[in-house]
Amino acid sequence: MYVCLCNAVSDKTIREVVRRYQPKSIQHLRQLVPVGKQCGKCIHAARRIMEEEMKHP
Ligand code: FES
Repeated sequence: MYVCLCNAVSDKTIREVVRRYQPKSIQHLRQLVPVGKQCGKCIHAARRIMEEEMKHP
């Protein structure tokens, strides 16, 4: 499922990046994958997926 339609980033991509690089914040995640760089609508969903993946990898 696409989380970020502007940049075609899927939840699977976010989960893989979180597992591999363990970003400490949404800002850090944004340096690793291009989420929220255009319309910004995906940022809350991206944060939720990141937090979920950190709690239950
Ligand atoms: Fe992610 Fe627009 S949906 S920046």
